[in-house]
Amino acid sequence: MDPFRANLFAGKTAFIAGGTSGINLGIAKRLAGLGAKVSVAGRNPEKAEGAAREIGGTDIALGLSCDVRIYQSVEEALQKAVDTFGKLDIVISGAAGNFVAPALGMSANGFRTVVDIDLNGTFNVFRACYQHLNRPGASLIAITAGQAVNAAMLQAHVCAAKAGINQLCRVLAMEWGPDGVRVNGISPGPIADTEGMARLAPTPEAETAIKARVPLRRYGTKEEIGDAAVFLSSDAARYVTGTILDVDGGSQLGDARSRDGSNGLT
Ligand code: HXC
Ligand code: NAP
Repeated sequence: MDPFRANLFAGKTAFIAGGTSGINLGIAKRLAGLGAKVSVAGRNPEKAEGAAREIGGTDIALGLSCDVRIYQSVEEALQKAVDTFGKLDIVISGAAGNFVAPALGMSANGFRTVVDIDLNGTFNVFRACYQHLNRPGASLIAITAGQAVNAAMLQAHVCAAKAGINQLCRVLAMEWGPDGVRVNGISPGPIADTEGMARLAPTPEAETAIKARVPLRRYGTKEEIGDAAVFLSSDAARYVTGTILDVDGGSQLGDARSRDGSNGLT
């Protein structure tokens, strides 16, 4: 049985940057399934339109083309979303880029590109959406990652960008709390069937090795991240702001292989 009340988000509207695939599309589907009207935005317009169809068609979903690195592009997408479904109650910033490379194997432009999409993109989305928010009561959520807290080799760009996102959420929670705008982050662990994990663990062996380190011993699902977004966007989280919610099977706690006789030190 669904843990959430049907039509929990009836009359609510959401804008999801990077909502055209993967985890963020999973969040969009979850919000729409509970009654919200959703706009999903990504660079590729065909992909955005396909995502809107998958969510449920023009009555409940709008696909928009936008590059979060370009402030004006974000402003235009937000305006179209508001023109279509009305002012915003929920905004998710989840657009991201990643590739696996050592710091010496990435150019300044490679590093900048990921910081620009993830961190500057999140600033752009949150800054530009503010004027369109239903206040008080709006919920803003950034999609961050464990790399924000735990340094990871071959991920200098993502670690730097996601750490910045966590602090940005905390600052905005302080600045916008008095207006009744909550700002939180969700930090997913490894999530099945995503572009992110296809890049980080491209082989079955790598997948098995990662699962062995997770206390709950499996990848998470897009639905499980969707459920966290539902909680943070709902009235149940009305006194929650400035927090980063780890939805990661305990991954943040550390490497949990030792119970099986190998602690990774030998
Ligand atoms: C080294 C690389 C590289 C690689 C790209 N670059 N791939 N450098 N190793 N494998 C460099 C390029 O050479 C270029 O630098 C610079 O990065 C920009 O590349 P472009 O292709 O011009 O950029 P763009 O078209 O804007 O594409 C951005 C991208 C791409 C990030 C490089 O991969 C992308 O669009 N990704 C979106 C989808 C995605 O990554 N999803 C996964 C998100 S998961 P030069 O100097 O040559 O110009 C995620 C995981 C979090 O975030 C944690 C999971 C646990
Ligand atoms: P994904 O499917 O590649 O999703 C990325 C989304 O962002 C797509 O909709 C993409 O569409 C869009 N996007 C990329 N660059 C953009 C730009 N410049 N402007 C606008 N949109 C842009 O990736 P995912 O693996 O599901 O990851 C989703 C989020 O979860 C990311 O924030 C990621 O860091 C986080 N995360 C993922 C995992 C995991 O296990 N996968 C773990 C921890 C955190 P276009 O390509 O059409 O632009």
